[in-house]
Amino acid sequence: MALAQPVAERAADDTGIDDLVRLTAADMARVNAMILSRTGSDVQMIPEVANHLISSGGKRLRPMLTLASAAHFDYPGEGHIKLAASVEFMHTATLLHDDVVDESDLRRGKPAARMVWGNQASVLVGDFLLGQAFKMMVEVGSLVALDILSSAAAVIAEGEVMQLDAAKDLKTDEATYLAVVRAKTAVLFAAAAEVGPVVAGAGAAERAAFSAYGLNLGLAFQLVDDALDYGGSSQKLGKRVGDDLREGKITLPVILAYAAGSPDERAFWRRCIEEGDVQDADLATAIEHLARHGAITATLERARGFGTAAIEALDGLAPSPFRRALTDVVGFTLSRTH
Ligand code: IPE
Ligand code: IPE
Ligand code: MG
Ligand code: MG
Ligand code: MG
Repeated sequence: MALAQPVAERAADDTGIDDLVRLTAADMARVNAMILSRTGSDVQMIPEVANHLISSGGKRLRPMLTLASAAHFDYPGEGHIKLAASVEFMHTATLLHDDVVDESDLRRGKPAARMVWGNQASVLVGDFLLGQAFKMMVEVGSLVALDILSSAAAVIAEGEVMQLDAAKDLKTDEATYLAVVRAKTAVLFAAAAEVGPVVAGAGAAERAAFSAYGLNLGLAFQLVDDALDYGGSSQKLGKRVGDDLREGKITLPVILAYAAGSPDERAFWRRCIEEGDVQDADLATAIEHLARHGAITATLERARGFGTAAIEALDGLAPSPFRRALTDVVGFTLSRTH
């Protein structure tokens, strides 16, 4: 079934994630089975909507962080499976909600759930998945893990609201942008990587190391995502390139190109972003302006800095195949095309 396939179908350029996929494969199969079983409901539309998104793949990157970070400590128990499934449910819920907020049409190569069942169903099924995620966390019985993940859920919502507030405002600075990215994306990566050591009973320093790793990886991940929204391929990404421009989202490429732009270029950005007047040809023009000022290169450069910080965060840990695989994932994140 497609659910088990998402990472098996990766392109040849994704070597940086291979070891993580291989090392977590057995546990990931259990996570996928758990995910499937927890989408069940007598309310028929719930599994329909949830499975539409879940069965279309996704990289399953966040749950793999949880599995690997627990396995680094030779954790012999079961708790990491439900925690990893919770992490992916939280992510899935945010995607359902995100496509409503961003008015996106395409997700994981398929029509977004909201295009098939509507915005209302997408929001409500997202809520169901969040509820199921919290039930699984409670079943694991670690109040600390519950604290980390429930705090992350609140922060993600804060990040999305901060982003809403900054949308269409070209005065948004880099610090505000980074605060949004940290909240909406990086904190879930940090939580995913921290609950592994928590459930494995690791010490505070080790927990902090994994959390810092996840946070920096998540920052890099979102910066690359924002670069791909201008430079990537819709086919590979499974989502429509240019969505950020169409919705007036202020991302680092735009902040940098606007700051360096000529008066004409600035007028272009104001029309697109502030006035929301985006025509079909504007994406190509935006990409030209970004290229002229090296804004994509600079964004990826910034992402590389966070990637280096992620690797450094793991420095003090004992070596293990899992630690090495987590280090390699930084390379995947920085060069990903999907
Ligand atoms: C998409 O995350 C949302 C962002 C934080 C950019 P992923 O790119 O991990 O989405 P899937 O799960 O692989 O589809
Ligand atoms: C992702 O931000 C953040 C969350 C899902 C909370 P984006 O809006 O950039 O994600 P994509 O590009 O739609 O996957
Ligand atoms: Mg989006
Ligand atoms: Mg969004
Ligand atoms: Mg995006």
